[in-house]
Amino acid sequence: MLARSQAKGDAVSGDKILLTGGAGYIGSHTAVALAEAGYAPVVLDNFSNAKPSVLERLEMILGVPVALERGDILDRAFLADVFTRHEFGAVIHFAARKAVGESVARPMDYFETNCCGLTALLRTMEASGVRNLVFSSSATVYGEPDVFPVPETAPRWHTSPYAMTKLASEDLLLAMADADPFWAFGILRYFNPAGAHESGLIGEEPDGIPNNLMPYLAKVALGELPHLNVFGDDFPTPDGTGVRDFVHVMDLAEAHVSSLRTLLDGSGGHAVNIGTGEGSSVMQMLASYGRACGRDLPWKPGPRRAGDVAKLVADPSLAASVLKFRTRRTLDEMCESSWRWVTRNSR
Ligand SMILES: NC(=O)c1ccc[n+]([C@@H]2O[C@H](COP(=O)([O-])OP(=O)(O)OC[C@H]3O[C@@H](n4cnc5c(N)ncnc54)[C@H](O)[C@@H]3O)[C@@H](O)[C@H]2O)c1
Repeated sequence: MLARSQAKGDAVSGDKILLTGGAGYIGSHTAVALAEAGYAPVVLDNFSNAKPSVLERLEMILGVPVALERGDILDRAFLADVFTRHEFGAVIHFAARKAVGESVARPMDYFETNCCGLTALLRTMEASGVRNLVFSSSATVYGEPDVFPVPETAPRWHTSPYAMTKLASEDLLLAMADADPFWAFGILRYFNPAGAHESGLIGEEPDGIPNNLMPYLAKVALGELPHLNVFGDDFPTPDGTGVRDFVHVMDLAEAHVSSLRTLLDGSGGHAVNIGTGEGSSVMQMLASYGRACGRDLPWKPGPRRAGDVAKLVADPSLAASVLKFRTRRTLDEMCESSWRWVTRNSR
């Protein structure tokens, strides 16, 4: 049984779990899933890509405050102080830089935050005797795979400095687990997170022109962008457009709870895909978002982009057997929740 402890000001009871980057898109949804599962999330964030108001939103959803530690994962003195003041059962490490294009222009920033941030965290965990870590990895570690659906045994390689940081982080964790049974790591390779919490109070808030399909569609639906560019309509897929494995962010949040439970019950580490195994095409997503917002959305065909593969879909069977985790929510639910979030929060 893990120690249960409360620092002054914490209101959610249960085993304390540190969420680095917990105010961000996936971290904030995971805070909800954890609290609903009886854990006490503690959010650590420097707000470089999130707003402090997320904490108020979490309190509105959960009815109790969520503890916050404001600071940077690269600041070891800060980390040590946080671990002194709380007794954590485990850590979920979301904090990272994540824009692939930016990583090409600023590789050192990406290595510093994503890799040095991870080693700073691991050093602090080791010193504090905290041995369980769930790590945010990505399908990007499979490069441009030619096996569908993609199993965890597919070759891993990188196509960007961002992907390099995820690959290097995974390799570090795997080597540490081999070297020392003290550690238990849950590596989750997310496919395409999409959607928002059903309340419409938290969601994805990209700066500028979004890189991902759903936030882009949201801006088209709001009239902030004129149309969707569909890159390639001659792929060998049923409607010719690219197929991706969109996973509802609340399903993804619940995958973290499953991973955590697996680590905490002593079942050991794992590296698993988190996806639906189904896949939806760009045109299917366009139609679904149109249903959510109540009108057909404008789009224009364009040429394929370099490096885009026809289909990128997870084999979710290992997560089903090891974590007992399966996605439950549909593409329509992703689009409806996204639309609720953007209409409640635009302007
Ligand atoms: N969103 C996706 O499509 C996707 C896909 C695969 C993997 N991932 C990974 O999942 C994780 C979470 O992604 P997200 O979409 O929620 O991103 P996000 O940017 O919304 O969240 C990351 C959070 O980390 C915080 N942060 C960044 N650097 C920090 C630092 N040095 N110290 C403290 N806090 C810091 C940011 O302020 C932000 O709140 C990341 O590791 C990302 O690489 C995301």
